[in-house]
Amino acid sequence: MAMTMRDQVVLERVRAHHAEMVGDVQRMEAAARRAEGPSAMASALSSLACYWTDQLLPHAVVEERTFYAEAESAGLAWLVAALTLEHEELRARGLELRRIGKEIGAPPADPGSTAVACARAAALAAGASAVFAVPARVENEVLLPALAAAGRALPPLLERMERAFAGARRRRTRAAAAVDALRQARAYGLAA
Ligand SMILES: [Fe+2]
Repeated sequence: MAMTMRDQVVLERVRAHHAEMVGDVQRMEAAARRAEGPSAMASALSSLACYWTDQLLPHAVVEERTFYAEAESAGLAWLVAALTLEHEELRARGLELRRIGKEIGAPPADPGSTAVACARAAALAAGASAVFAVPARVENEVLLPALAAAGRALPPLLERMERAFAGARRRRTRAAAAVDALRQARAYGLAA
C-alpha cells in the first residue's frame, strides 16, 4: 500500500525529531572531545548522560509501545527484534556513560586511574551518536515505510507516541520536584 500524504507528514516529523536528537548528541560528543582534565570531562559526560536519561531513553520506550507494538501486530516482528537489540545497546551505553561520569566526578587518589577513566570516557562519548543514529535511520527508512505498506495509518501512532512522551515528561518533572523537596527537607533537618 502506498504512503498517504498524512503518513508522509508523520515520516517527516519523525525524521526531523531524530535529526534534532542526533545533532544534540553530536554537540555533546564534541564537548567531550574538547574536554581537558577530569572536571571538564565529568561535566561533559554528565550532560550527555542526562540527555540520554531525559530524552533518548524515554523516546525509545514510547516508540516500543507505539510503532514497535504496531509493527509486531503487522507481521514485522523480525524487524522489531532487530530494533529492540539496538535499543538494548542504547540502554547499556546510557548506564556506562553514567558510571564512568561518576568515576571521573569522584576520582580515587590515584591520578593514573582517573586519566585511564577519562580516556575511556572520551572513547565512549565519541561513538555515542552512532548508537542512536543507526536505529533512528532504520526507523525512518525501513520501519515507518513498512508500517505504511502494511496498511497501518501513521498519524494515530505518532499522536499516541507524543501523548506518551508528554506523560513521561510530566512524571519526570513531578519526580524531580519530589526529590528537590526531600533534599530541602533534609537540609532543614525535617527528613531523615
Ligand atoms: Fe526513534
